[in-house]
Amino acid sequence: MLATNNGLLPQVSWWRTAIGDDERATILDSLARERISMGAVTAELESEICRHLEVPYAVATTSGSVALMMALLALDIGPGDEVIVPTRTFIATAHAASLLGASVVLVDCYADSPNLDVDQIAAHISDRTKAIVPVHLNGRAVDARIFEIARQYGVAVVEDAAQALYSCTPDGYLGTLGAIGCFSFGMVKLASTGQGGALVTRDEGLYQRLLAIRNHGVRDVVSHDYLGVGGNFKLTDILASIGLWQIRRLPEKAAHCNAIYNRYAAALADLSFVDLVPVAVAAGEVAVWTEVTSPQRAAIVAHLAAQGVETRPFLPCVHSAAHFAGGTFPNSERFHAEGFNLPCGPAQPLDNVDRAIAALQTFG
Ligand SMILES: Cc1ncc(COP(=O)(O)O)c(C=O)c1O
Repeated sequence: MLATNNGLLPQVSWWRTAIGDDERATILDSLARERISMGAVTAELESEICRHLEVPYAVATTSGSVALMMALLALDIGPGDEVIVPTRTFIATAHAASLLGASVVLVDCYADSPNLDVDQIAAHISDRTKAIVPVHLNGRAVDARIFEIARQYGVAVVEDAAQALYSCTPDGYLGTLGAIGCFSFGMVKLASTGQGGALVTRDEGLYQRLLAIRNHGVRDVVSHDYLGVGGNFKLTDILASIGLWQIRRLPEKAAHCNAIYNRYAAALADLSFVDLVPVAVAAGEVAVWTEVTSPQRAAIVAHLAAQGVETRPFLPCVHSAAHFAGGTFPNSERFHAEGFNLPCGPAQPLDNVDRAIAALQTFG
């Protein structure tokens, strides 16, 4: 049963995910075959990722956070190295570098887009810079000039595509354009396994390194010789049973999320107190969430909550954590202060979206 607001109105939750009968059947099948660690279903999931993203190699793992750390480890990043990261991201992007002992160098976003401002990158590159980790926030492609800048300075690009699965530009799917791309299958993502993630690459050497890193550095499970350090970063077939179908249904999930975005976009055009944070859905990007900003956020959120409509405020910037403090990032701070998500998600009924729109229209 849905939660109620003051016992009067059914609540519209901000996120609805879609888990179907196929997922349930494949989990039961995995259990029946007693193959519950990483096995054939995980391999099938990886094949589906490769097919949908048109990329030769995919490695499934336990989370997007671990995927990012594995990517940097595969590129030999460690103490003494610097990694450029936007401050306007989930802190996982920065922690991946920190956990390996590298230093994080933060960069602001644009005034009108929460994505990394690529024109600020060059000023932050030093002779210790080893990688840039651009984040395609909510399916928005980071400016493609980043790949040119990285080439010019001889640094690797690890794409944090945790929020950008199946989002594409004319150059290809996000996450498949740099050295390694990282995805999250967390709860509020387009494809969810509860917890989970994946890496993709076009480089066979990096693929072999990632496979070894996922399994304690073991290059060959028969001879057990070691390529280097690693850990147990293996997904289980139980979770892969969910992921397999989540990936197979990407086209319909993406279409539904974009339909929600377009519905809000049409309605919000008439509302002066709130601005949509644009996603180029007509060009192939996927708006996993519908994000808006307003200087009146607190009042709007309270107004919607009183009508049973849940929202989610934007996550803080990386530099808000004491261990990353320093620097000024006015654009990122504005997005943090004013941004929030409206009800959305691959299983969000369009009726709920209409309820959220109707509630917004009575604000002020
Ligand atoms: C931009 C970004 N990077 C990394 C992650 C980490 O993914 P996970 O939660 O699967 O560890 C997330 C998750 O929300 C994210 O949004």
